[in-house]
Amino acid sequence: MSEKKRFVQVGVGGRSEMYWKSICEDYKDQCEIVAICDNNEGRMNLRKKNLEKLGVDVKLYADSDFEKMIAECKPDTVIVTTKDCTHDDYICRALELGCDVITEKPMTTDEKKCERIVEAQKKSGKTVTVTFNYRYAPPRTQLKDMLMSGVIGNIVSVDFHWLLNTSHGADYFRRWHRWKKNSGGLMVHKSTHHFDLVNWWLSDIPESVFAVGKRNYYRPETAKSLGLENAGNRCHGCADSGKCPFALKMAENEGLKELYLDNEEFDGYQRDKCVFSDDMDIEDTMNVIVNYRSGATMSYSLHAFSPWEGFIVTFNGTKGRIEHTCQESVYVNGDGNIPGELVPEGTKTKVYPHFLPGYEVELWKGTGGHGGGDPVLLADLFDKNAPEDKYMRAADYRSGAFSIITGIAANKSFVSGEMVKISDILCPVPDPDYPVMPKPFEPVASDYLAKIEEFRNKNKK
Ligand SMILES: NC(=O)c1ccc[n+]([C@@H]2O[C@H](COP(=O)([O-])OP(=O)(O)OC[C@H]3O[C@@H](n4cnc5c(N)ncnc54)[C@H](O)[C@@H]3O)[C@@H](O)[C@H]2O)c1
Repeated sequence: MSEKKRFVQVGVGGRSEMYWKSICEDYKDQCEIVAICDNNEGRMNLRKKNLEKLGVDVKLYADSDFEKMIAECKPDTVIVTTKDCTHDDYICRALELGCDVITEKPMTTDEKKCERIVEAQKKSGKTVTVTFNYRYAPPRTQLKDMLMSGVIGNIVSVDFHWLLNTSHGADYFRRWHRWKKNSGGLMVHKSTHHFDLVNWWLSDIPESVFAVGKRNYYRPETAKSLGLENAGNRCHGCADSGKCPFALKMAENEGLKELYLDNEEFDGYQRDKCVFSDDMDIEDTMNVIVNYRSGATMSYSLHAFSPWEGFIVTFNGTKGRIEHTCQESVYVNGDGNIPGELVPEGTKTKVYPHFLPGYEVELWKGTGGHGGGDPVLLADLFDKNAPEDKYMRAADYRSGAFSIITGIAANKSFVSGEMVKISDILCPVPDPDYPVMPKPFEPVASDYLAKIEEFRNKNKK
């Protein structure tokens, strides 16, 4: 049998599980995880026990021993699943020590850290894979397939509206994400997925951004309006937790308790801060206009206190329009539910061709986290026999950079009230590899023209 690929993982919180579990269960013939690293000793001990249950023994390293881990364990690849603002440091150190990197999104949180990664990648020649699981969700890949096929011609604009609900959306206001220094705000932390989807769907590059962002809902005034007069600074032990619809009861959920509550003594990380406290600086209501190199434009919004979770995206092309609605299941990260599972009855795609009747498309199906994207992504990461991908879904540091830069520019626009040019803030980054898309003013296929003719004749009075 050929040698297994060796992995180590840094950051062993909620999201880490998808990776170590998949390596130890689905890809154990090809891959092995040999060590984990975190700044929280308690969480590492829990993960050690989790891995032992799968028959895997890993070494544990404190964050200060990252270099020692690399020297002793000699991994091929470092998986980075720490909080966002620490990604750049681990990515760069791993590259400098001769390892490839797989990192969770967002690749990093600001343009300076981004430049550091771009430089380190160039010097090392090693790979940085950014795991954009949303590209892999079958209904999203299907949209790419449709756009590539030219069914609506050349895409000139996109309307994209993402809704985070009062369960998952609220969760960003409880944890480290609530401070921009940690997450870049939702424009970077969350919208990196969405901006990446649009860059990839259109095979395009963002050029300028104008945005307005506010925190309208997660405020002390909302607590008062809900009759919560005694809100504390966290849910655990809060006098109002019995009547607060946002209370996160970690003690009552085994997964959240053992991962977070039981390990607070090690680093003071509280997973359940009050969503209404004034002690945060991220927005919950954001509107963004983006201009792309091709001439296409996008109007995008993100709301983090919606009654349902999912999105509506519309593509306007020179031959028609595609409308896609997607609803996702309710969860908070680490609560044991599958994150972002597709709600099939709430998901549909409709094509409206010019001059012909609209029709609904049978959706490509998949199960698992993030609309069925997680398992497909994992195969791409860990299966050396994964087939060639005509959609080019594997993303590297270039897509990582272009996906965060729209959000970083939006954050700047929130403050200045001005349009921000991407070339003013992003260091030179080569274009990502994208599939070829329909060109403007390509001749319309003769069978399509014939169909229009037939339809018009049939409907003549
Ligand atoms: N692609 C997705 O759909 C998706 C979903 C959830 C989270 N994520 C990403 O995964 C990453 C982890 O998120 P999470 O929800 O698991 O967070 P988490 O808070 O549950 O876990 C983060 C872990 O990193 C550790 N950590 C923090 N700072 C560290 C440091 N300096 N050195 C070493 N360890 C450190 C913490 O102790 C914790 O164990 C984030 O980048 C997040 O954006 C992606």
